[in-house]
Amino acid sequence: MTPPKIVVLGTGGTLAGSAANAADNLGYQAGQIGIAQLLAGIPGLRDLPLATEDVARIDSKDMGFEVWRSLALRCAHWLAQDDVAGIVVGHGTDTLEETAFFLHSVLGPAKPVVVTCAMRPASALAPDGPQNLVDAIAVAATAGARGVVAVCAGTVHAALDVAKQHTYRLDAFTSGDAGPIGYVEERRVRLVRPWPGEERLPAVLERLPAVVRWPRVEIVTSHAGASGAVVEALVAQGVDGLVVAATGNGTVHHELETALLAARERGVRVLRASRCAQGLVQSTAHDWLPHAGGLSPVKARIVLLLELLP
Ligand code: SIN
Repeated sequence: MTPPKIVVLGTGGTLAGSAANAADNLGYQAGQIGIAQLLAGIPGLRDLPLATEDVARIDSKDMGFEVWRSLALRCAHWLAQDDVAGIVVGHGTDTLEETAFFLHSVLGPAKPVVVTCAMRPASALAPDGPQNLVDAIAVAATAGARGVVAVCAGTVHAALDVAKQHTYRLDAFTSGDAGPIGYVEERRVRLVRPWPGEERLPAVLERLPAVVRWPRVEIVTSHAGASGAVVEALVAQGVDGLVVAATGNGTVHHELETALLAARERGVRVLRASRCAQGLVQSTAHDWLPHAGGLSPVKARIVLLLELLP
């Protein structure tokens, strides 16, 4: 009997990046090489039952709704096939946590969807992408694996918790207080906590194909000297939702808060998330605006985006 296959979807990133000089880890162009070509260069993968597809070839700083929609729909297509054990998504590191959280929210899959990446381009003297791809494929093929996870530098992170924490190191991601789900060692997963649950937002996936106008949700930051000017300008432009990257336990400069409350009066959805890299916003008796618990501002933005979807 043929073993179930792993589908590897490419979206670009440094993983697929190329520089003119092999010693240059920064002066490269992301998203240059197709996913099939990347895998063909990795010894030991050739005999595995893999299928490949390029969904996009972009630098993930340019990630947006259209690629997210295509990616979610391709994942859903492949996950529904009986002969598919799991999916690997090749992605840039810069917005990996956003894409992983988006897929987690719309798919909540019973099979594994493993998002992986690289900090060095494929052309580097010692690229990290091949090992990350091998590890991600091992995770996707692991019996009992499920949910959307990220794999980088031998560590498995839940989509809910993962965040990029370093601009340069190969081990660029953290799961914060929650800690990783596990580690990949010689193609075996050592779990230290359970796989993510299968829950997903009801009916969002089904609505994605028909979306013509995506809600506009922006992030504003509370900081020393903040004012309401940015919020007022965004409301004048017809923004649908605002996430405030708040200080500490979700506190907001009083001028910005006044503008946000006025925006809410005008029908704009507002959500607070903390600027702090760790911890969660705890409710208090003075919560005039709802908060997103432990979600970072970029993930809270996805929550609002999906809630506001037509
Ligand atoms: C990107 O996010 O596409 C470029 C940076 C990276 O992958 O590390």
